[in-house]
Amino acid sequence: MTQPAGANRPKRLADYVGQDKLKRKLEVYIQAAKGRNQALDHVLVFGPPGLGKTTLAHIIAYEMGVGIRPTSGPAIEKPGDLAAILTNSLEEGDVLFIDEIHRLGRVAEEHLYPAMEDFRLDIVIGQGPAARSIQLPIPRFTLIGATTRPGLITQPMRSRFGIIEHLEYYSPTELAQNLEKEAVLQGLEISPEAALEIGARSRGTMRIAKNLLNRIRDYAQVAGEFRIDSARTHAALDQLGLDTVGLTDRDKNLLETMITKFAGGPVGLDTLATAISEDALTIEDLYEPYLIQLGFMKRTSRGRMLTPLAYDHLGYAIPQDMLLE
Ligand code: ADE
Repeated sequence: MTQPAGANRPKRLADYVGQDKLKRKLEVYIQAAKGRNQALDHVLVFGPPGLGKTTLAHIIAYEMGVGIRPTSGPAIEKPGDLAAILTNSLEEGDVLFIDEIHRLGRVAEEHLYPAMEDFRLDIVIGQGPAARSIQLPIPRFTLIGATTRPGLITQPMRSRFGIIEHLEYYSPTELAQNLEKEAVLQGLEISPEAALEIGARSRGTMRIAKNLLNRIRDYAQVAGEFRIDSARTHAALDQLGLDTVGLTDRDKNLLETMITKFAGGPVGLDTLATAISEDALTIEDLYEPYLIQLGFMKRTSRGRMLTPLAYDHLGYAIPQDMLLE
């Protein structure tokens, strides 16, 4: 009854909404690699969570006409885990997709270097003075690594990717475009206004937009409605506690704390984290990117600072000194 994860995933690059510049580049790289009858160069994709990195990896494999073996950094603990994947489950040209590649262990990472570069695996057999190293050829494959934290990828790792690209937040229109497609796949009817409203409150994130659509579908279904319209969407989104730009109560608490306790900043990340009982990493990865994208917050060398836009959005008077800057 339930659909497998990714059931509605687009297969082709042409069906992937937005990210136009990236798509144009990938089209060329894919066509060229296929023309040479070679595996595509290794690809590192980074960007905030929920923008469609996994979907893109599947599309690349599909467009290349090869298989994909998905795994993740934390799943590869020992070098043996990596050896098993590289020797057993990959065919010539296949994609090995490592999600959260920044969480790959150091030893496994070092084993990946010769695999990426020379398509061989260095295996040590035996111990002590009798130990010797053998080199095992492996199929020419394409590694696609995805990460939300590009800063944690080591330089030697990064330099082994021929293609390094990042995903951008989606505009409300792009999100709406994909929601309308998603609705058709699910046999739902949605008005263009409702799709745009959801798009505007989804923090530029595809996964959030799809989840919101599913929640609003629930509200509509329980109310006995067959079409998702603006009124239903408004009501449901308000119940879910999302404001007009998709900020949650937690986001607003962060902004208000900065206004009322720190005069809009600058305030250090750790101090801010303590003030709102959140950990610094969560603020950095989950809250901040979207607030910065909205132009509500800035990262400065002295700490985090709010902008007049944040004051305005929350209905606070903009401090004089901010206006003079
Ligand atoms: N699923 C995740 N990201 C997507 C995108 N950009 N277009 C279509 N479906 C997606």
